[in-house]
Amino acid sequence: MADFVEIVEMAPRDGLQNEKRLIPTADKIALVDALSEAGFGRIEVASFVSPKWVPQMADGAEVLAGIRRVPGVRYTALTPNLRGFEAARAAGVDEVAIFASASEGFSRANLNCSIAESLERFDPVMRAADAAGIPVRGYVSMVTDCPFDGPTAPAQVARVVAHLRVIGCREVSLGDTVGRARPESVIAMLAAVVQEMEPAQLAGHFHDTGGRALENIEASLAFGLRIFDAAVGGLGGCPYAPGAAGNVASERVAAHLQKLGYATGINAAKLERAATCARALKGGSE
Ligand code: HMG
Ligand code: MG
Repeated sequence: MADFVEIVEMAPRDGLQNEKRLIPTADKIALVDALSEAGFGRIEVASFVSPKWVPQMADGAEVLAGIRRVPGVRYTALTPNLRGFEAARAAGVDEVAIFASASEGFSRANLNCSIAESLERFDPVMRAADAAGIPVRGYVSMVTDCPFDGPTAPAQVARVVAHLRVIGCREVSLGDTVGRARPESVIAMLAAVVQEMEPAQLAGHFHDTGGRALENIEASLAFGLRIFDAAVGGLGGCPYAPGAAGNVASERVAAHLQKLGYATGINAAKLERAATCARALKGGSE
């Protein structure tokens, strides 16, 4: 039987958060519903962050209330602090994600605090999630390169990953936030990170600015990673990371994994339908 690789769908959150035009809630719901049909096991649908910081994500509760939940699909959201966690829990998420940076420059730009302060702020989120029985994913951004601080030291990524594991994250997603990673830098980073966390608990999160995302996924597969984040239609970018383009497109990742002999559980025709829906949302903003 083919080895299974999970693609975690990012388009409704990472894909849309950077769009200038406020996308109607109904369009976001239609996108999530199309993705649920396509066979993803996890879809990141919203973020419960400050609406002053990311206005596009202000309707997360309405999106979660409006989607048609397909049994077996987990609907997830970003939560930067306890307030965000409480709102996400009230909206009925199945999983939350806290997000840290491996570089100080991006931590300040994205969370308005140092790495150490951000990690402290996650403690109450972890306690509340544990009490509510909600699993927590951790993100680490700028795992190879940072537009503010330059190249990221692998040991620094490993330190943040180790902290997230110790505080209870069940999985850590490694973010090439600005899409500058190359297979060589991914290999150097993973060599340090797998000392701290099992490859089965790590995810690769590659933006595709430099066009190397598929190669970076292959380098990660060789380290034993079997979870990759992607956004249908290649949507995305981070409003606080200058130069960040879209996440690698889910349809390209699914096709590439199939070519390499992996199973993903994704229905290619339904994925294409979701991609058309996603591209229309992006097109509408230009
Ligand atoms: P701050 O300004 O330092 O903190 O922001 P604050 O506590 O003063 O909050 C500012 C205002 O937001 C206040 O409102 C708070 O009440 C409110 P005011 O008193 O001025 O009216 N507020 C909230 N409102 C709703 N929900 C909340 C919340 N928290 C505070 N949860 C803060 C600190 C963390 C809030 C801010 O920096 C923030 O929201 N940052 C999020 C930025 C973001 O979402 N970035 C994109 C996601 S990360 C990403 O894309 C990377 C990733 O894809 C991986 C990769 O690619 O590397 C995950
Ligand atoms: Mg991202």
